[in-house]
Amino acid sequence: MCGIVGYVGHRPALPILLEGLHRLEYRGYDSAGIALVGSRGIETFKRSGRVRDLESILPAARARIRRATTGIAHTRWATHGAPSDRNAHPHLDRHGRIAIVHNGIIENAAALRARLALDGVEFASETDSEVLAHLIAAMPAGRLVDAVRAALQLVTGAYGLAVMDAERPDTLVVARNGSPVVLGIGEREMFAASDTAALVRHTSQVVHLDDGELAELRADGYETSTLEGGPTVKTPLTVTWAAEALDKGSYGHFMRKEIDEQPDAVRRTLTGRLDHRFHTSRLGGLELDPRALLEIRRVKILGCGSAWIAGTIGAHLIEQLARIPAHAEPASEFRYRNPVIEPDCLYIAVSQSGETFDTLAAVQEVTRKGGQVLGIVNVVGSSIARACGRGIYVHAGPEVSVVSTKAMTCTATAFALLALHLGRIRDLAPTEGQRLVAALEALPGQIASILADEPAIAAIAQTFAGVSNAYFVGRARGYPVALEGALKLKEVSYLHAEAYPASELKHGPLALIEAATPTVVVLPRDALFAKNLSTIEEIHARQGPVVVVTHPGPLPIAVAGRIDVPQSAPELDPILLNVPLQLLAYHVALAKGRDVDRPRNLAKSVTVE
Ligand code: G6P
Repeated sequence: MCGIVGYVGHRPALPILLEGLHRLEYRGYDSAGIALVGSRGIETFKRSGRVRDLESILPAARARIRRATTGIAHTRWATHGAPSDRNAHPHLDRHGRIAIVHNGIIENAAALRARLALDGVEFASETDSEVLAHLIAAMPAGRLVDAVRAALQLVTGAYGLAVMDAERPDTLVVARNGSPVVLGIGEREMFAASDTAALVRHTSQVVHLDDGELAELRADGYETSTLEGGPTVKTPLTVTWAAEALDKGSYGHFMRKEIDEQPDAVRRTLTGRLDHRFHTSRLGGLELDPRALLEIRRVKILGCGSAWIAGTIGAHLIEQLARIPAHAEPASEFRYRNPVIEPDCLYIAVSQSGETFDTLAAVQEVTRKGGQVLGIVNVVGSSIARACGRGIYVHAGPEVSVVSTKAMTCTATAFALLALHLGRIRDLAPTEGQRLVAALEALPGQIASILADEPAIAAIAQTFAGVSNAYFVGRARGYPVALEGALKLKEVSYLHAEAYPASELKHGPLALIEAATPTVVVLPRDALFAKNLSTIEEIHARQGPVVVVTHPGPLPIAVAGRIDVPQSAPELDPILLNVPLQLLAYHVALAKGRDVDRPRNLAKSVTVE
């Protein structure tokens, strides 16, 4: 959601914090701020708008603050209080001694505000976060970490928090409960951030805090402890992301760059995981032996947004290849309906970031009730990956664009590996396994050939730019492709787009089909080809224009637009059929002049409820 960066060390903090904010801007981008501690105490700079708007107010003060070597910074996605200069973080206590930046939601903020107001505190913002600065300042003097700990004992809610004290300019304190905090270990310097992306330029050694943990950072190291005060021992992880992967390079947008990265990303998902001897996949991180996997009677997949849709593709794959009943459900729906947890059900949590609050809460609900859960996650060491403790890392590389493209494709590929593995333990024949291994190996090259067709897809996108509504329909394994195509289009171009199972068209949406409403029909050449052709006839009978995403070969019906993708194994077709719809959404967004990498009201990683 929002992004946090903190620095304490021997170098000027300002450029490090600004660079970190730019890295995190994809997490939230309605306001930004920085606080630095120097000889004149704490100075804060904050501004609604983008990080570049914040930068525009810095030059006057630059000379004064450039030597400060401790600071905290924040980029915000508003929850409590509208985006404005005064609601932007950092927030200060009334004497300007304590500065805080906070991600998450303080649930008892109203009660704490009332209590602080009785003590004469006047609030400078409408945020729930500001109470933290006043509370910490009100704690008995001593070590900053003890004051933060004492204040947090009065707080209910979620937080990722960084705190600075004008009287202890060599110290930063960070704390975590439900919102990620990662420490970066440097040479005579320490970093903190809500996301590894802000750290990889400076260090590859990171430490993830757990919920209920605090850390005191100084230039020469860090100490971690629990909310109750006991020390904790952490083992640093080495991050393998190259810092360049987080740059746009020659591309205009991260979304376009990440679409292009898909052949390589899928190759990484597959690397070392295909077994040509037994025609299956090798998934070391599952930590479930074949006997345990044989006992699974059902699979339940949980995720949000594109991760949920990737899970829907995964459910089809598992049912088809392993003949285990499988179903995907939005993680938020699942956790709120007091779900029945079955001992012979395998629960799978899916997340690119590994930090989505609802998905993490669903994992905790399954675990609390004794269910077995594994993660299909992109970010190594993330909260969901750690909460699951086992699973499959997707290895898509860092995804910066708010709308998911390569992570979606790689997650679907990871599901294919899992389905193959489960299938080959059960009844999937070796020849079938061989067919799928070959099809998986062909995916990167096939994706590259789809990307080469961009000019034709861009031309079709022009015809969507002027319409107000669009439909996407698909059958069986084509339905998640329709769902993801519609989601991409509305997220990035704001064009109203809905997905329906093709068979449902005549049960409602057909009433809305007219000459000005295009429908994208997912039309693989599979057993349902003829059925999908009938759907197209139904749409044509209402003068609706149809664009098909299909396989090469003759079409018995004339359509307004046609995008061909290479044929894969039928089970893997959704992975390829999805790719041109990413390009379609991208080009509609370009034609409509949208801010592709920062769509309005959305955030890359939703770490609040
Ligand atoms: C947000 C993003 C989506 C993403 C979803 C789940 O809503 O805008 O693009 O699919 O979160 O994110 P996750 O990191 O859990 O995959």
